Amino acid sequence: MRSDARLAIAMRRCQKPERFLYKKVDYFMSFVAGSSPDQHQEQSKTFRAAPKGLSGRVAVPGDKSISHRSLMFSALAVGESRVEGLLEGEDVLATAAALRAMGARIERDDKGVWHIEGVGVGGLLQPQQALEMGNSGTSTRLLMGLLASHDLTATFTGDASLSKRPMGRVTEPLSRMGAEFMASPGGRLPLTMRGAVPAVPIEYRLPVASAQVKSAILLAGLNTPGITRVIEPEATRDHSERMLRGFGADLTVEKDSAGARIISVRGEAELRPQNIIVPGDPSSAAFPMVAALIVPGSDVVITGIGINDTRIGIVKLLRAMGGDIEMLNIRDAGGEPVADLHVRHSQLHGVENDPADVPSMVDEFPVAFIAAAMAKGRSVFRGLEELRVKESDRISVMAQGLRLIGVQVEETEDGLIIDGTGGEALPGGGPITTHLDHRIAMSFAVAGLASKNGVTIDDMRPVETSFPGFVGLLNQIGAGVGA
Ligand code: S3P
Repeated sequence: MRSDARLAIAMRRCQKPERFLYKKVDYFMSFVAGSSPDQHQEQSKTFRAAPKGLSGRVAVPGDKSISHRSLMFSALAVGESRVEGLLEGEDVLATAAALRAMGARIERDDKGVWHIEGVGVGGLLQPQQALEMGNSGTSTRLLMGLLASHDLTATFTGDASLSKRPMGRVTEPLSRMGAEFMASPGGRLPLTMRGAVPAVPIEYRLPVASAQVKSAILLAGLNTPGITRVIEPEATRDHSERMLRGFGADLTVEKDSAGARIISVRGEAELRPQNIIVPGDPSSAAFPMVAALIVPGSDVVITGIGINDTRIGIVKLLRAMGGDIEMLNIRDAGGEPVADLHVRHSQLHGVENDPADVPSMVDEFPVAFIAAAMAKGRSVFRGLEELRVKESDRISVMAQGLRLIGVQVEETEDGLIIDGTGGEALPGGGPITTHLDHRIAMSFAVAGLASKNGVTIDDMRPVETSFPGFVGLLNQIGAGVGA
């Protein structure tokens, strides 16, 4: 950030110091600490067949990836940004709490619009306490990138699931930029980092297809003199690129002769505040989408869903299985393509996924496995190594759960082989152990809606990280989930 902008922000802080106090700390803490029982899912729950099928129009909460980025980029802009449709799930609120702890003003008005007054690139302040990241890998990895080029020291802590996840994939490139890390054994949380000022620009070829790693480096590059470059052999979600350009960063995307994306960002950027509309999360929409496909008699419209090409692999896969999914009313919402998805019950058949499509549906495989369990014939899923380092080892946890509810499944090193029922209801059973993984909980909830005996989930609370109101939404389309 230029020094005149820095000075303007410092003066504003001096004139209005109260704006930087935690005015709404109670509101945040009620989400973060889970102290508001009426807004939280109950722990154990059984999901049973919906005899009349599912029907109606529903909207799912805002996109998690875009919500995190809306808060982070707005916190770096000079002036006030507005965000509509922000996902108010625990993961995004962990990002908000961390940014507030470093000086950004973040408030929600009574219409549900979020207002963020940024501190300017490079302007975040030393946090006084450890940054509690809960279950959120995206908060952790993107914030590490953001702080890598700030003059401060920060400690990151997380829950039992996050504390098992690998951080070396971000600490390695960020160390090359000059940041220092003291991590727990295996490069995990709790972890303390010291940012570098000035940081050193790097050119980094991603060894793993990860939008989190890409975004961490680009965020570090914003306050690094010169050009920071990330080479991405396999395209991953491109929200950071789109949004940073919208905020006024000098960011270019080119392709090399092998088709790899080369993303370059010029450092010492100055970001302009934005008005952002967050589209519905395609990763959340995947649950009612699969439910409508596998529950006989269903006809559901899921409105306002982001259909960015880098996110919509699940629709491609389900259509290849014979799923009747139509995209209606395709439009643009704040730089992202959006559509209403009309989904009707379909007799699905087995499929072999294309490993090249994995990044565009990396979070949707657990629920795709449920679709495969109801399909006619065998499905073979390959190239899913990354699923082993998500909120849980999603290959192994899904295999165990599928067996428990009577599905024929074989676990391989990089995927699953599933023999479907051909449309017959799944036997059911449980309890499914969710291992603090929201997508495991929601996938088996969907399986329960197409089961003979119901499916019991041991712990639905992790669903709060990404999909508050999940059970209510299923009931809105007629799932009849009891207390
Ligand atoms: C995300 C990227 C993905 C995804 C995660 C959100 C993001 O992780 O699984 O839920 O917002 O950048 P990876 O990039 O590590 O695959």
